[in-house]
Amino acid sequence: MKRTALAIVFLLAFLTQGLAPGFAQDTAPDRSATGGAQTLEDILKRQRGEPVDDSFRSDKTGDPNSAAAMSSQLGTLGGVSDPELWRALRYGTADVKVSAGGPQARVLIQDGGMSWLAFREGPLATYGALLLGGTIVLLALFFLIRGRIRIDGEKTGLTITRFKAIERFGHWLLGGSFVLLALTGLLTLFGRMAIIPLVGHDAFAPLAHFSKWIHNNVSWAFMLGLIMVFVMWVAHNIPNKLDLKWIAVGGGLFKKGVHPPAKKFNFGQKLVFWGVIVLGVSVSVSGLSLLFPFDMPLFAATFEKLNATGLPQLFGYGTLPTQLAPQEEMQLAQLWHAIVAFVMMALILAHIYIGSIGMEGAFDAMGSGEVELQWAKEHHGLWVEEVREEERRKHTEHAVPAE
Ligand code: HEM
Repeated sequence: MKRTALAIVFLLAFLTQGLAPGFAQDTAPDRSATGGAQTLEDILKRQRGEPVDDSFRSDKTGDPNSAAAMSSQLGTLGGVSDPELWRALRYGTADVKVSAGGPQARVLIQDGGMSWLAFREGPLATYGALLLGGTIVLLALFFLIRGRIRIDGEKTGLTITRFKAIERFGHWLLGGSFVLLALTGLLTLFGRMAIIPLVGHDAFAPLAHFSKWIHNNVSWAFMLGLIMVFVMWVAHNIPNKLDLKWIAVGGGLFKKGVHPPAKKFNFGQKLVFWGVIVLGVSVSVSGLSLLFPFDMPLFAATFEKLNATGLPQLFGYGTLPTQLAPQEEMQLAQLWHAIVAFVMMALILAHIYIGSIGMEGAFDAMGSGEVELQWAKEHHGLWVEEVREEERRKHTEHAVPAE
């Protein structure tokens, strides 16, 4: 839990590094030669993409007391000089009044967009692709070394019901929608780089349009599937002592014939379950924030809560910004949505592998819902006993005549 919290703080701090001017700590250079204005060093630093503490400019946005006096009718227009007004616009503190368009229309200059673009096209795309590619390579290596995990014992020819129709419906609603969302999401991120050079702009335009339509609308099926799966399976996914035995032998994944005792879900499956729930909720909430632009700002409020824990300060990132322009909120929501989606895709690739080619007999559980009894005994022995016990109980209840 603690580790997850630290990881989140790290990510948030990483994300905001380039997006929130003035957030990074910096030692103030000597600006006496420019009378306090920015120096060549400041400009070069910014061009190199290094963080610059802009407070020497962002704080000078119009102090009426230090403004030149109005000497005549043609003198200065009150307390704010032109450079100060431009700085206030630049740092989002100018008193802009608009008659329509909401708070986002009051932002006339928003330079965080460039850092967002650079992050989206750079580290996000690069590390995201590496994560997915790396996961596929690892799974292929695992398959080459370990091979398909077979049913060790003699098959019985008998089956046991593993998942009811409603459970399979919930699973495929979640799984099917996720696959569609993943493919259309990847197309949105990588289309410009990978697809346009192949098919050209004219062919890509309708593809991107259709893909966005699918992505926006299928998200509801995903959220419904997520709720169904959570309600149906949460009781079976509470951690217990058996999980320690599973961890001790690596789930038997790496050695033939090793089968740690498990109830309905083993520890590996619990990891998948909780991963899907936590990441699924996070990707859904940030997705909703993107679907209803500017109506669901999330980050300033989250940063405020994180600041209160003291963790960002502890890790040397200072206080996270709690005043974000509506556009900055959207930029952060987009990056967070994509990062969480990448992590979830990597997890799901591993899940799809083990639920299909990786393990003999596993797919039937979500296909027909009936699994080979020997498979069930090997992988979920305690669950088989529970099911039998329940059947015996029902049987005796029916057998005893009512008094
Ligand atoms: C598309 C290919 C997929 C296949 C072949 C597949 C296969 C399976 C199978 C066979 C099981 C039951 C395992 C058992 O009997 O113990 C299962 C369970 C589960 N699936 Fe999938 N699945 C797929 C996609 C997904 C996706 C995309 C998600 C979520 C976004 C998902 C979430 C889950 C969860 C939470 C469980 C219960 C925990 C577990 O068994 O790991 N599945 N899946």
